[in-house]
Amino acid sequence: MASTPFSLSCFLFLLIIVFLRNPNPRFVFGSEEENSNSLSILTWHDYSPPTPPSPPPFDLPSSSCEDDLGGVGSFDSHCKLKSSVNLTEDLYVEGNGTLSLLDGVSLACPVAGCFVAVNLSGSIRLGNRSSIVAGRVYFIAANITVPVDATVNTTALAGDPPEHTTGTPSTTKGDGGGHGGRGASCFVKEGQLPEDSWGGDAYSWARLEKPDSYGSRGGSTSREVKYGGGGGGRVWLKISDTIDLDGVISADGGDGGTDGGGGSGGSIFIVASKMKGIGNISASGGNGLAGGGGGRVSINIFSRHDTPDIYVHGGRSYGCSENNGAAGTLFDAVPRSLIVDNQNLSTLTDTLLLDFPYQPLWTNVLVRNSAKVVVPLLWSRVQVQGQLSLLCGAVMTFGLFPYANSEFELMAEELLMSDSIIKVSGALRMSVKMFLMWNSNMTIIGSRDVATSLLEASNLIVLRESSVIRSNANLGVHGQGLLNLTGRGDMIEAQRLILSLFYSINVGPESILRGPLLNASNEDMAPRLNCELQDCPTELIHPPEDCNVNSSLSFTLQICRVEDIGVAGLVQGTVIHFHRARTVVVHSSGAISSSGLGCKGGVGRGTISSNGVGGGGGHGGKGGNGFYRGTPVEGGITYGHAALPCELGSGSGNDSIKASTAGGGIIVMGSMEHSLSSLSVYGSVKSDGESYGEHGGWINNAVTNDSGVWPGGGSGGTILLFYTL
Ligand SMILES: *[C@@H]1O[C@H](CO)[C@@H](O)[C@H](O)[C@H]1NC(C)=O
Ligand SMILES: *[C@@H]1O[C@H](CO)[C@@H](O)[C@H](O)[C@H]1NC(C)=O
Ligand SMILES: *[C@@H]1O[C@H](CO)[C@@H](O)[C@H](O)[C@H]1NC(C)=O
Ligand SMILES: *[C@@H]1O[C@H](CO)[C@@H](O)[C@H](O)[C@H]1NC(C)=O
Ligand SMILES: *[C@@H]1O[C@H](CO)[C@@H](O)[C@H](O)[C@H]1NC(C)=O
Ligand SMILES: *[C@@H]1O[C@H](CO)[C@@H](O)[C@H](O)[C@H]1NC(C)=O
Ligand SMILES: *[C@@H]1O[C@H](CO)[C@@H](O)[C@H](O)[C@H]1NC(C)=O
Ligand SMILES: *[C@@H]1O[C@H](CO)[C@@H](O)[C@H](O)[C@H]1NC(C)=O
Ligand SMILES: *[C@@H]1O[C@H](CO)[C@@H](O)[C@H](O)[C@H]1NC(C)=O
Ligand SMILES: *[C@@H]1O[C@H](CO)[C@@H](O)[C@H](O)[C@H]1NC(C)=O
Ligand SMILES: *[C@@H]1O[C@H](CO)[C@@H](O)[C@H](O)[C@H]1NC(C)=O
Ligand SMILES: *[C@@H]1O[C@H](CO)[C@@H](O)[C@H](O)[C@H]1NC(C)=O
Repeated sequence: MASTPFSLSCFLFLLIIVFLRNPNPRFVFGSEEENSNSLSILTWHDYSPPTPPSPPPFDLPSSSCEDDLGGVGSFDSHCKLKSSVNLTEDLYVEGNGTLSLLDGVSLACPVAGCFVAVNLSGSIRLGNRSSIVAGRVYFIAANITVPVDATVNTTALAGDPPEHTTGTPSTTKGDGGGHGGRGASCFVKEGQLPEDSWGGDAYSWARLEKPDSYGSRGGSTSREVKYGGGGGGRVWLKISDTIDLDGVISADGGDGGTDGGGGSGGSIFIVASKMKGIGNISASGGNGLAGGGGGRVSINIFSRHDTPDIYVHGGRSYGCSENNGAAGTLFDAVPRSLIVDNQNLSTLTDTLLLDFPYQPLWTNVLVRNSAKVVVPLLWSRVQVQGQLSLLCGAVMTFGLFPYANSEFELMAEELLMSDSIIKVSGALRMSVKMFLMWNSNMTIIGSRDVATSLLEASNLIVLRESSVIRSNANLGVHGQGLLNLTGRGDMIEAQRLILSLFYSINVGPESILRGPLLNASNEDMAPRLNCELQDCPTELIHPPEDCNVNSSLSFTLQICRVEDIGVAGLVQGTVIHFHRARTVVVHSSGAISSSGLGCKGGVGRGTISSNGVGGGGGHGGKGGNGFYRGTPVEGGITYGHAALPCELGSGSGNDSIKASTAGGGIIVMGSMEHSLSSLSVYGSVKSDGESYGEHGGWINNAVTNDSGVWPGGGSGGTILLFYTL
């Protein structure tokens, strides 16, 4: 294995995520009212009304080259435009010839929604510095040539966006228009986060493979004057032979200035068999007080000699530079890949990912360069045939915070994350072959209803460069190959964590496996501790043979059916269990510890006097007495089984007293039925009681006590090793 199994550059990977449609009712947040982003209202809202494909207008009579356009020749042979034409209404051209614009000539209908349609069996040739300007462009031809400085420009000339869409914000905050991505909003309502505030909403997801919707105008800061930038237009090119593009094809949103939001990008759909040139294709959001969202581009080109630059990023927000418009969507039909790229424009505004096709699946989904995407539909399944890649500041959110009662599925060949974040509100069931993280975080916020997340990677899971997987609920991590926490800062932690079925687990230096979380809040699903039981939970001696996450069991961190376990970092938990492991090596820098993670009270709790002096916790031995002005404060009793111990240590005091200490937890390796075959300890395996004031305990015991009145120490916990001599 190469030392760097993946060197993730922003440009090397194509990501594919396929989201399978889910038959369940789909609830998303948002209302049709003024504040369409209110998080407190849950409404039905179809984000992707099916837009019927627009019928081409070619049933109208064709215009004439000489009479209507003042050109030379005819559309059935060769029509040459030698001087610019200003149109005020739609133009339809049909013929079996060629159309040429000589250098510097423009064919323009700069009216919102003005339609220029050309259906020629010859070519469309633009000259140097020439341009075709309209709201909507629909070209059918054998070839099209757009040289340097020439443009096909529908920027800010959108007609009406599809019905029932809310791409134009109805507020007067100067928010950006939405389309492929949401428009930004610099206005944050009281009690909300910037993440919860957006401008115009996204639409036409269902048509992203063949986009054909106008962008939307940005919002204004005035009721009377529409300051917002216009939405981007629509471009459809069906080129049977070659598109030669060194100039620009644009459907950008218009600029809203400082009094209005940027318009959202429009739609560009290009079908051709060949492409040449290094021009630009752009359906980006317009800049404005708040930036517009990107539009939608789809290209279906069989053979590409060069790669044009394709942009669908959001527009810049003059009013809040950290929150630009959200990226739109780029669909590349030949590999069937979806790309969401915000060109490093930072944003807190989302691009919505809705249902994904089943058959065939999309190949890769790539989210990169500060794009932020959300899978808002509850019970969604995200399935990709190849890679799902999140690179260079990408953020992917499943569900809506703080509503955590949904379960999401993620299926792909590979999940690659570099400098990126996945946030899950609810539970996640992931199934991939390879899961590679580089300086990335996966955070799962569960609720009592959907407590268990399962991450499965059949071949490999690697965390590098301070990558963290964290769940405030139950988490199972499975695989048949290697789980590698490479080194410093790499961590997997959950309230209850089970790692199972791997061939090998490596906990590298300064990396951490932990269950439960330190500093868990009341919202988190705390594992129940049997602090008042004197006898042993039977699963510690006779654990179930399956390795399933099971909340009724007392384990907080279990490693089950893993052949080889190497610990050079920290494995930390309250009830740690190694079940059916072959070899366990604790390297000199490594530790397996349940110290200070047992009970604060417990069977052997030390007495606490009314003035806060405490006796020590008892367990294997009696806790020492505290003394206050000569009066003894009793330490805790001894309890448990000397030969087969499996009890939590006890603390001094109880849960309600901040200034108390906890006993040690439990570490069990092997079981009555399956002993460990090899354990080598060069570092430490410990289950000490907590000393008062000690840091790193799981209680916040930072309370200082100036009076010199202290609680007692916690008692040691349990270490039980089943061993064949
Ligand atoms: C384009 O013109 C050809 C004839 O030149 C016709 O057969 C075809 O249907 C037209 N395409 C559209 C979309 O109208
Ligand atoms: C088209 O209109 C522009 C301004 O709107 C003007 O500068 C140009 O001369 C006009 N061209 C023609 C051919 O009328
Ligand atoms: C082009 O169209 C014209 C009129 O529709 C027809 O007369 C001519 O034969 C066509 N030429 C070719 C090469 O198809
Ligand atoms: C289209 O361009 C190709 C070469 O790029 C050329 O061979 C072909 O004849 C052109 N077709 C037409 C109708 O001009
Ligand atoms: C367009 O400009 C290029 C150089 O930029 C030049 O080579 C070419 O001849 C020009 N085309 C015409 C038709 O003038
Ligand atoms: C397209 O037209 C808009 C509005 O006239 C203009 O601002 C923009 O620069 C043009 N785009 C290109 C690429 O020429
Ligand atoms: C394409 O866009 C990039 C970035 O905006 C710009 O640097 C480049 O000059 C553009 N290319 C053309 C052909 O306009
Ligand atoms: C985005 O940032 C990355 C990392 O800093 C850089 O490699 C890449 O070139 C940037 N991309 C753009 C479009 O600015
Ligand atoms: C991951 O979370 C940590 C804090 O928990 C933060 O310091 C780090 O920047 C995050 N990484 C990314 C890529 O956002
Ligand atoms: C696993 O991590 C160790 C360092 O802890 C490293 O030496 C090894 O190359 C890593 N293996 C893989 C496959 O990432
Ligand atoms: C837990 O909280 C304490 C005090 O707030 C803090 O010092 C400590 O770093 C926290 N530990 C973790 C792992 O977050
Ligand atoms: C959890 O463990 C208990 C006790 O061993 C067992 O009765 C129960 O069936 C288990 N539940 C699951 C879902 O495995």
